[in-house]
Amino acid sequence: MNYRHAFHAGNFGDVLKHLVLVELLTRLTAKDKPLLFLDTHAGRGRYDLDSDESRRAGEAKAGILRLAAAGALPPAAQRYMEAVRATDPANAERIRFYPGSPRLAAQLLRPLDRGALCELAPREAAALRQEFAGDRRFAVHERDGYEALAALVPPKERRGLVLIDPPYEAQDHEFGAIHDALGRALERWPTGVYAIWYPVKLSGSVQRFHEALLQRGVERLFVAELCVHPRDSRAGLNGSGMAIVNPPWQSDLAIAEALPAVHAALSPGGAGDTRTAWLRGS
Ligand SMILES: C[S@@+](CC[C@H](N)C(=O)[O-])C[C@H]1O[C@@H](n2cnc3c(N)ncnc32)[C@H](O)[C@@H]1O
Repeated sequence: MNYRHAFHAGNFGDVLKHLVLVELLTRLTAKDKPLLFLDTHAGRGRYDLDSDESRRAGEAKAGILRLAAAGALPPAAQRYMEAVRATDPANAERIRFYPGSPRLAAQLLRPLDRGALCELAPREAAALRQEFAGDRRFAVHERDGYEALAALVPPKERRGLVLIDPPYEAQDHEFGAIHDALGRALERWPTGVYAIWYPVKLSGSVQRFHEALLQRGVERLFVAELCVHPRDSRAGLNGSGMAIVNPPWQSDLAIAEALPAVHAALSPGGAGDTRTAWLRGS
């Protein structure tokens, strides 16, 4: 396990992932009933964009920092930006501490909700534990997120969101692990909301990933993709996507409305594109 998210925090992949996360949690918390947020690959919770890793990689400059400099944004993108700024007072003027998925969730969950944060790398898990030491809504689990998913669902609340955001150190292996874990979770909890981040490199592998998801008993599947390089370019990561099982009502419309403006901000030369589609149900 060599992956360190500090190198990538706030990049274009995080922007898509976290915009969708904020949108899903905003919709889910609008209902007056408790929920569970389960983050299978949580990271350390918060990233200092002035750290050596972040500065060296410089990925936030082509991601969140571009969006922060954009003008008026559609509502879902605006809500995401507000959540980013609200997670840390130092972010009000200039975004310095970029919130990972756990911190964004902490911003949106209510006192009646619960968060379960799984992180396998000891150093990241220790930082995460420290970050959440004072927040009784959250439990940090230093364990394999796929295993935890099978063990922790269905939650007693019967409502909630699972974020699956692995490092993809070996892409095909990771796709297989996701399909298996999701299949097991859906058998136990078919009504949960599941959001899975995936890299967009070559379109053939994305299509195979989607097809395999559909074979796992998924009844409603919406996908949202944001690419900042031409699809199929061999440059490496061309963009990323979120596959959302059972998205809450109208979250699909809000995400679809937001993505073109986000793409314009992140890809000033116009390279790449956005795509939203229901692959099953609606
Ligand atoms: C992409 S990062 C997560 C970022 C985080 N979800 C966010 O949005 O801020 C992936 C994380 O998964 C951790 N990890 C790798 N394999 C894991 C596993 N099997 N179970 C749980 N965590 C794992 C890595 O150490 C890394 O911190």
